[in-house]
Amino acid sequence: MSVGYTERQQAMLQEMGIRVWVPPRVEVAEAAVPVVDVVVEGVGARVRGHDERGDVVARVVEVSAPVSGTVPEPVSELVPASVVALRSTGVAAMDWDALRAAVSSCRACTLCERRKQTVFGVGHPQAQWMLIGEAPGEQEDLQGEPFVGKAGQLLDNMLRAVGLTRSEAPAHEQVYIANVLKCRPPQNRNPEPQEVAQCEPYLLRQIALVQPKLILAMGRFAVQSLLKTAEPIGRLRGRVHEVQGVPVVVTYHPAYLLRNPLDKARSWEDLCLAREVMARAG
Ligand code: URA
Repeated sequence: MSVGYTERQQAMLQEMGIRVWVPPRVEVAEAAVPVVDVVVEGVGARVRGHDERGDVVARVVEVSAPVSGTVPEPVSELVPASVVALRSTGVAAMDWDALRAAVSSCRACTLCERRKQTVFGVGHPQAQWMLIGEAPGEQEDLQGEPFVGKAGQLLDNMLRAVGLTRSEAPAHEQVYIANVLKCRPPQNRNPEPQEVAQCEPYLLRQIALVQPKLILAMGRFAVQSLLKTAEPIGRLRGRVHEVQGVPVVVTYHPAYLLRNPLDKARSWEDLCLAREVMARAG
């Protein structure tokens, strides 16, 4: 395992705002401090970082593009925000293939231990509408596609009502659907903040690659994590928000609508607002 790094690697780490630290002896350094493994595939580097006096210290321990070989253990302890930021930088540089590969091999949180497979997203890679839900459920975990259970059937019907589909169609008709989490939480429990934080770079990169004209955020978790707010959906509906320069319309989760069918009328209002935003965008 090489502990050296080239000028290019040094420049890369400097770009990321990371102080490079070279231990005099690798074995001592590894044993002496609690460390968190971080894989930054987009920049072709494997980095070991730890929080020391509040700083992230990073060291290139292996360089290859893309990263291959041993899969790191899942990170079960609290990961410093700065280490998450380091991962984000790598993910933000990925193209579709690299992103898909990074998601399917992701072990950044313990959800990886029980998933059958990751659930990346489905639809047109340049869709005008992007729909964002919470996390895969049992069926999604089995089939590897978002919203394939009962909630998905309702979603498909809602999409049909406004002339949209997830099936193959031109970019103005075919949506792109993704979730905040790419792995199923056990027993469909609520996502943990730590899991949302680890998965967020993937979703942000999907948004950047699709460059939709509109995002429809469905359900409390998608809405609150995208908009970085604790406000309830009821207070966020009916107006247009923004994420990464993309207008965001907020609506109820289809699974909630299955339990509360009276709110389908409100969700129809939300779809109409979304259509208005699209019409204004031309
Ligand atoms: N609920 C979600 O939020 N996403 C899915 O993919 C399925 C159910």
